[in-house]
Amino acid sequence: MISMSNIEPNNKRSTQLEKPSIPLSQREGQGGESLVQGGESLVQGGESLVQGGESFIRIILIGYMGAGKTTVGKELAKALGLTFYDLDWYITTRMRRTVKEIFDERGEEGFRRIEHNMLHEVAEFENVVISCGGGTPCFFDNMEYMNQQADTVYLKASPEVLYAHLQMGKGVRPLLLNKTPDEVQQFIREQLAYREHFYSQARHIADVNLMDNFSKIANTVADIREMLGV
Ligand code: S3P
Repeated sequence: MISMSNIEPNNKRSTQLEKPSIPLSQREGQGGESLVQGGESLVQGGESLVQGGESFIRIILIGYMGAGKTTVGKELAKALGLTFYDLDWYITTRMRRTVKEIFDERGEEGFRRIEHNMLHEVAEFENVVISCGGGTPCFFDNMEYMNQQADTVYLKASPEVLYAHLQMGKGVRPLLLNKTPDEVQQFIREQLAYREHFYSQARHIADVNLMDNFSKIANTVADIREMLGV
């Protein structure tokens, strides 16, 4: 269950990773995209990320509010010995304001701009699992960018499951405030239908409909590890 009050980063850093640790989507022979895009090479410090450069893992979890991105992200990071970042937590820390305060002060448009900028910061980090906000993939070219930078995993759940998870959570979600339960359910159905187009562009999809206790969270982590081969 995602809780805004429970999004401390997991600072356990990886020392030795067993598997090849370049972004999996950029491994040679895995159907990944070329590192050369639009004539520009993604070369850092004179070395390609793949050849000769240091290799790393970067996984980004996406999905609707209540899908369990933070919960799964923390467990996945722990299992892989990686650092966990929650994009909302990162925004809150950098801006010294809660997500709700940013919405109140700058409106959703202002929040989305900040979210876009902060995404470009965290998605540069290496050996990380990042969970982003439910809306992150649906603005600007964020989804395309995330697919270039990382192995993206969509945590997919039905509107009913998401609603049940959100009922249990304590986090404040500005988009769901001041709505009756019926209105929230309707909102989730409609917004999820719209967002599905973006979410489904993720490189991997994990069904989290049954993920309502710890052993099932562990199963989801195992499923994702199998999908990504890590
Ligand atoms: C949002 C989801 C929230 C947060 C903000 C907007 C959205 O994150 O970024 O309230 O548009 O779906 P979670 O998905 O972690 O709740």
